[in-house]
Amino acid sequence: MSKALITGASRGLGRALAAGLARAGFDLVIDARDATALDAAAGALRASGVAVTAVPGDVTDPAHRAALLAACAGRLDLLVNNAGTLGASPLPALADYPVAELRAAFEANAIAPIALTQLALPLLRASGGAVLNITSDAAVEAYAGWGGYGAAKAALEQASNVLAAEELGVRVWWADPGDLRTDMHQLAFPGEDISDRPEPASVVPAFVRLVSERLPSGRYRAAHLMPVTS
Ligand SMILES: NC(=O)c1ccc[n+]([C@@H]2O[C@H](COP(=O)([O-])OP(=O)(O)OC[C@H]3O[C@@H](n4cnc5c(N)ncnc54)[C@H](OP(=O)(O)O)[C@@H]3O)[C@@H](O)[C@H]2O)c1
Repeated sequence: MSKALITGASRGLGRALAAGLARAGFDLVIDARDATALDAAAGALRASGVAVTAVPGDVTDPAHRAALLAACAGRLDLLVNNAGTLGASPLPALADYPVAELRAAFEANAIAPIALTQLALPLLRASGGAVLNITSDAAVEAYAGWGGYGAAKAALEQASNVLAAEELGVRVWWADPGDLRTDMHQLAFPGEDISDRPEPASVVPAFVRLVSERLPSGRYRAAHLMPVTS
């Protein structure tokens, strides 16, 4: 049985991806900081008949990252670095960005996924596995206000790019899911109606395709990966 470790799987895109990978037959190791929400997600995911290990904690905490790898119990086929933070909200201009919040955005969106990947690589090399880093169009487009989040995601994109050049036996994908109706997206647009954005489940087939077809390492956009339907 294949096994996936997905960070930030209690809600939003991470939870939808976890459900899609469970349907594809992956056993799961999942995390989030809120243990109650994580347990609720784990319970629902077990209905797919796969094993689900929930490890509450913060990906920026080295001890928690070690606990996540321990929970993989010697097997890992797919690491999904999905957990992330928007940073300061409302989104400030870089001129006014509080440096402590900037550092926290880099810690959660770039340092933590790279550090978790370092821990996971021995298992991923052994399985010929894959890393999927969830990034954003804000990593490559210059949207006013998105400099802290976007710069941190850009750092994760380039780390992914270099990792792909270094780890030829492991697939490394970095992917922009597009705008999604989630708590993080609402935080970026406080008070606005975001009900026109698609649900996270809508992009899951794109990511399942990436995994099941073991597409080459590289940058992807979910919108370009959607399976063609007649
Ligand atoms: N939504 C969009 O439009 C959009 C667009 C482009 C990219 N993305 C990216 O997609 C990913 C998922 O975002 P989302 O919109 O689904 O966000 P979300 O609804 O806010 O969900 C975030 C998930 O990550 C967990 N999490 C956050 N910080 C964590 C930490 N430090 N340690 C462990 N778990 C943590 C949250 O649970 P706890 O709070 O309990 O920890 C939750 O399960 C992010 O990387 C985001 O940057 C989203």
